[in-house]
Amino acid sequence: MHYCVFMGSPKRQGNTMSALDPFLQELKSAGHTTELIWLYEKEIRPCVACRVCQDVMDDFGCVQKDDMADIARAILSADCFVLATPIYAWYCTAPMKAMLDRLVYGMNKYYGKQKGPVLWRGKPCALFLTGGYPEEESGILFEKGMEGYCKHSRLRYEGCLFLRDFGYHTAFLTEEKIQQSRAFAKQLMQNLLP
Ligand SMILES: Cc1cc2nc3c(=O)[nH]c(=O)nc-3n(C[C@H](O)[C@H](O)[C@H](O)COP(=O)(O)O)c2cc1C
Repeated sequence: MHYCVFMGSPKRQGNTMSALDPFLQELKSAGHTTELIWLYEKEIRPCVACRVCQDVMDDFGCVQKDDMADIARAILSADCFVLATPIYAWYCTAPMKAMLDRLVYGMNKYYGKQKGPVLWRGKPCALFLTGGYPEEESGILFEKGMEGYCKHSRLRYEGCLFLRDFGYHTAFLTEEKIQQSRAFAKQLMQNLLP
């Protein structure tokens, strides 16, 4: 299986990446391939709601010439995609939000004169989150949002791992978090068994 992970943290050596490492190792050691895409390095413009993509039934079809067409292709060729992000202001970070806005139109041909297909129908999607507040006060909003997003987009929502950052003076990556990260990878692989 091929797993595509979208990284929404601006920090190459931040909390989210440190916790994601054991997750990726677990997938690779089980023989799967992984691809890590750093969204802060990509050009992802906001959706401008022109709806031109709604007349292109067999492709993402956005008129904006940035990195989104490659991102859409990466999702379509993966068996599963993972959204990894720190929680910023109760949601994902800005480049990930821009990506999600662009995809909800480009991939779902619901909004034009004629209804068309859902290009990513059935694709499994999982969330990998870190945040400073307790999960029920911060991560839960993005989780709820993405559950709705997946249902609307006919994606398979595969669940969420939330890992808490207890502050700048506390080591983030504990042995417990490493185990949680590995266990989440195992659960995901189990879910994707044919
Ligand atoms: C601008 C900014 C906004 C944040 N907003 C939230 C928030 O709304 N809820 C929360 O739980 N944590 C929030 N945090 C804390 C981060 O989510 C947390 O420290 C995270 O683990 C950072 O991951 P990183 O090192 O990969 O960037 C915020 C951090 C920053 C820098």
